[in-house]
Amino acid sequence: MSVTIKTPEEIAKMRVAGRLAAEVLDFIAPHVRAGVTTGELDRLCHDYILNVQLATPAPLNYAPPGYQPFPKSICTSVNHVVCHGVPGEKKLRAGDIVNLDITVIKDGYHGDTSRMFYLAQPSIQARRLCDVTYECLWLGIDAVQPGGRLGDIGYAIQTHAEEHGYSVVREFCGHGIGRKFHEEPQVLHYGRPGTGLRLEPGMTFTIEPMINAGKPEIRQLADGWTVVTKDHSLSAQWEHTVLVTDSGYEVLTLSAKAPQKPPLHA
Ligand code: MF3
Ligand code: CO
Ligand code: CO
Repeated sequence: MSVTIKTPEEIAKMRVAGRLAAEVLDFIAPHVRAGVTTGELDRLCHDYILNVQLATPAPLNYAPPGYQPFPKSICTSVNHVVCHGVPGEKKLRAGDIVNLDITVIKDGYHGDTSRMFYLAQPSIQARRLCDVTYECLWLGIDAVQPGGRLGDIGYAIQTHAEEHGYSVVREFCGHGIGRKFHEEPQVLHYGRPGTGLRLEPGMTFTIEPMINAGKPEIRQLADGWTVVTKDHSLSAQWEHTVLVTDSGYEVLTLSAKAPQKPPLHA
């Protein structure tokens, strides 16, 4: 398998899937309140994707090689959970930070996006981690251009994270996306400029940096999915699906209430 270049027809479908994924986050945002369980957020998103969007939640029963089927429709990663948190009975509390990661399939194509949510007054440190991680995402996106390299993206992200004393999770990365949830290429969130795959118009992939306040090492929990920081430091993640265009990039996972691109200074 190699990197697919999407046709204009496929790109049109990717735009729809991407917007739908973002709109699930718009829909769920007002429900992310202290006292709600991650399982309730999952059920609300599941029903919205199926009954309102007439789409499919890609995580449900997703089983890549070596994994058991994911049992829920979204990922909910709270505080020191890095990614792939499994929704359950745990209630969100004031001060928590939580990543909600949504992937929908519409008309055979995937859209994949995640945002951080803050429960009433997160600590200054938690807020800053989320903000810097959001800047990392957009610095990575801004590095996307035809003729550019994958390493340019990773370098932009890693530099910004480490300048703030944070670390980049190495074990998980962004990914090509289209008919399949996870396609080639792997989009590392660290690297060296001018190295790696050359970007071409029509490529679609995610950028989804996982940034830890402490050390980069992670641990996988016994449920086979949940990934946590080994040192229990906070972790944040934001994700967009992007298309390489003739002139630069197009973010496919935007919606009415998606947070804006932040101000970025070189
Ligand atoms: N949405 C995640 C990503 O960004 C993947 C989740 S796999 C799942 O790649 F099975 F946990 F949903
Ligand atoms: Co995702
Ligand atoms: Co992804």
